[in-house]
Amino acid sequence: TWTTHNVVDEQVALIREQVGDKRAICGLSGGVDSAVAAALVNKAIGDRLTCVYVDHGLMRKGETEQVEKDFVAATGVQLKVVDAKERFLTALAGVSDPEQKRKIIGREFIRVFEQAQAEIVAEAGEHGESVEFLVQGTLYPDVVESGGGTGTANIKSHHNVGGLPEDLQFQLVEPLRKLFKDEVRMVGQELGLPEEIVQRQPFPGPGLGIRIVGEVTEERLDLLREADAIAREELTAAGLDNQIWQCPVVLLADVRSVGVQGDGRTYGHPIVLRPVSSEDAMTADWSRLPYDVLAKISTRITNEVRDVNRVVLDVTSKPPGTIEWE
Ligand code: XMP
Repeated sequence: TWTTHNVVDEQVALIREQVGDKRAICGLSGGVDSAVAAALVNKAIGDRLTCVYVDHGLMRKGETEQVEKDFVAATGVQLKVVDAKERFLTALAGVSDPEQKRKIIGREFIRVFEQAQAEIVAEAGEHGESVEFLVQGTLYPDVVESGGGTGTANIKSHHNVGGLPEDLQFQLVEPLRKLFKDEVRMVGQELGLPEEIVQRQPFPGPGLGIRIVGEVTEERLDLLREADAIAREELTAAGLDNQIWQCPVVLLADVRSVGVQGDGRTYGHPIVLRPVSSEDAMTADWSRLPYDVLAKISTRITNEVRDVNRVVLDVTSKPPGTIEWE
């Protein structure tokens, strides 16, 4: 029978068998999946695990600081933070195609992990065990939607599945590959992770990079980061966090519309709010948020975010729309 206790025991045994006396690194994103994967591997191999948090510059406001603080406090894992903003922005320059963005981001993640691997080995000195394993928080739906399931179409390349480069030097450790999100949350609880981590809404590894429709630039990221922070703040203030699965905020960077602000004409970009309800992200419905909360978000975003003069609500279920726009 399926119990979270059995899952933990079984996975810890499998991880020990797979990793042996070698070292592993785990890409930590701040989300539930990678946090639970890291906690499982930490339980299995202790301090032979180093977590690597890649700050790719595509994170939301305050996110990097939160990971540094909360996750380490909760688990005591060794954490290496890599500032890779330049690298990701350079690699993404001029790219608008969603699948191309996803593949570039997936590849750059791995290049950063390789660099971290070399540093960890160097720090360990000549008697250090080598790092051959990369832990990822891949879930069952990520595998299916990246075309890894049998008989399924490739909907989009999740950064940790279809986005991996072909010359990958690591062996993958993916203890959550057969689980859905709600099961991962239960495993996280069983492992004693705090509620703030276990109940976090999903956020995609490629971050805001796949929430800018068009080319990703630093200026556009700044706009989107501001709009996203306002939406999150208001949803939290209204007590709606537990009622929605997640709420992507999307910048339509290549679209402009005419508006009027003060006494002048504006020609700015629209921001899309995409609040959804879901059980497992395989299907979803748009959330019927209270109009007054939507109004507040809209007013604040258009007042406070430069170059944004319109806020629109996405009322599409999945299918036919996916949750993220790219
Ligand atoms: P879609 O857009 O496919 O999203 O309906 C389903 C769920 O997966 C998240 N998502 C990702 N998570 N890496 C991730 O870690 C990715 O590349 C990725 N793409 C989408 C999305 O936020 C939603 O929860």
